[in-house]
Amino acid sequence: MANASLSPADVRYLAAAGGAAPSLHNSQPWYFRPTSDGRGIAVYADRTRAVPLTDPDGRALHISVGAAVFNVRVAAGRLGRDPRVTLLPHESGPAPAAVLDLGRFTHDPHPYGPDLHPAIGDRHSSRLPFTDRDVPERLVGELVTAAEAEGVVLDVLEETDARRVLNLTAEAERRTAADLARQAETRTWLRVEELTTDGIPYAALGPQDHDARVPVRAFTGHPPAFPTSTRHFEALPRVATLTTRFDRPEDWLRTGQAMERAWLLATVHGLRMSVLHQAVEWPDTRATLRNPRTGPGHVQMVLRMGYGPPGAPTPRRPVAETLRSAAGDAGTKARNGTGTGTGAGRA
Ligand SMILES: Cc1cc2nc3c(=O)[nH]c(=O)nc-3n(C[C@H](O)[C@H](O)[C@H](O)COP(=O)(O)O)c2cc1C
Repeated sequence: MANASLSPADVRYLAAAGGAAPSLHNSQPWYFRPTSDGRGIAVYADRTRAVPLTDPDGRALHISVGAAVFNVRVAAGRLGRDPRVTLLPHESGPAPAAVLDLGRFTHDPHPYGPDLHPAIGDRHSSRLPFTDRDVPERLVGELVTAAEAEGVVLDVLEETDARRVLNLTAEAERRTAADLARQAETRTWLRVEELTTDGIPYAALGPQDHDARVPVRAFTGHPPAFPTSTRHFEALPRVATLTTRFDRPEDWLRTGQAMERAWLLATVHGLRMSVLHQAVEWPDTRATLRNPRTGPGHVQMVLRMGYGPPGAPTPRRPVAETLRSAAGDAGTKARNGTGTGTGAGRA
């Protein structure tokens, strides 16, 4: 029988995959730890990397962590493992957001349909204008099914609803623009220097929509801190919402997994996405985001999708920073890369 223990290289590989996930302002609010039995990996929320004014409840933080959990699930399949995920287990000490038991083997490395693994590195937010090419209904159906499998409703909106959501997003963007403290907080996550491991580089920001149809987040402030170009965006933006029945941390973690599952699937099919989160960040616009026809629920995310150029790459923290030892001893942090790292081993 094969050895169910993960090697230090396996653990580093899983942590690197998790770390490639999208996160609010590329804050990467997570860290990873091998489980003490050596057969799994735990994903933790790193609250020192929170964005408190924009995300006071840690909802977006949990969505980001959930996306990292889904990437680890995909990478586990590549290792021939069948992950069993427990969200928010009750543990003494700092409790993880999720524990993935990888002790079982599988012959099906692609349980999510196509091989999603290459999309982990290929996926990026594309804030550029999309073409007017429509998203095929079959692909829309696949995205809906992918989110549903994670317990989340993905709704690709018809024109009237899409315009309603975009108007609310524009209203929230205006409100954020008038909030100097939030603007200052956002600017702390912008990066001009090349040698950076988090935050959003200027190269990853897009233009503003000349016709004001797509309210792309103005990361550099209002008026912009440096000249921002405008371009014509797609005439009818395709917009999707992710909704959950309840609004608890576990729902946020599920949303993150659903978002990443749909986003990786979209990436495999050449469909680009970006996030329009502004309206979710104010309680009243968030409440109004809900589609009255689809009944109760809490909108967690607004996604824009379409065909166009890929988004620019964004930096990530090295595994040496995000992977901690099972014992939690900061002095035995795992080393990164192909070197002789030993700290990723089990306690
Ligand atoms: C909860 C959440 C909220 C986000 N909100 C926005 C947003 O409002 N506007 C935007 O352009 N990108 C948004 N993003 C995308 C992040 O900025 C992006 O994932 C991060 O910078 C990493 O870049 P990447 O997606 O290209 O890997 C959000 C991502 C998450 C997970």
